[in-house]
Amino acid sequence: MNDKQRVAEHAAEKIQNGMLVGLGTGSTANYFIEALARRHLHESLQIQVVASSVVSTIKAKQLGLPLRSMEHVAELDVYVDGADEVAPDLTLLKGRGADLVREKLLAKASAAFWVLIDNSKTVEHIGQNFPIPIEVMPFAWQLVQNSLSAMGGQGQLRKNGDGLFVTSYGSLVLDTAFDKQIDGKRLNAELNDIPGIVEHGIFAQLATAVFCSHEGVLAEKTV
Ligand code: 5RP
Repeated sequence: MNDKQRVAEHAAEKIQNGMLVGLGTGSTANYFIEALARRHLHESLQIQVVASSVVSTIKAKQLGLPLRSMEHVAELDVYVDGADEVAPDLTLLKGRGADLVREKLLAKASAAFWVLIDNSKTVEHIGQNFPIPIEVMPFAWQLVQNSLSAMGGQGQLRKNGDGLFVTSYGSLVLDTAFDKQIDGKRLNAELNDIPGIVEHGIFAQLATAVFCSHEGVLAEKTV
């Protein structure tokens, strides 16, 4: 069992009867979906799930988890997902995939947000290992790129082969590196103020617990 599987199993063990559970997207979230489906099948765990992407929806469906659509849900008990970076104050960087709009909506609507990582995801500051993914309305990308540039950010449109990468909801992505060390919470507030940005990958003050496995040893950090 690898570290991602170990945190996923741990989180699945903590799910209780009657919960409405948000499912993240990515390889760690996949392990969680599998572990949850096993408990649903073998322990008759009574739960319902809401998925953050088409991929997670398909996986949950194939494994027999009772799905609800986001449109019909006002609040969830817990949202469980991976992350690309986790800073010491539990600010996250997410969104290397194409589904961060739904991911953030579910994280915000949940009473608890559990983040599942292996040790490679812990960083001193957001943006240490990856640029910040910023989803923009297609017609606004240059205006947003200019606003980012005024803040010291170099936004590059994400490519997909010879074309441009398009998210599940038709946005373009400006992967943006900053020339200075980033204060994640401050950048979150500044990005929220730029017109034309649909969503971005900084998840500030949303995670309630981070489960981290490093070479088989599990640690839990809460806010
Ligand atoms: C997708 C995400 C993922 O949770 C993040 O990229 C981590 O992925 P993985 O679990 O495959 O390492 O934010 O938008």
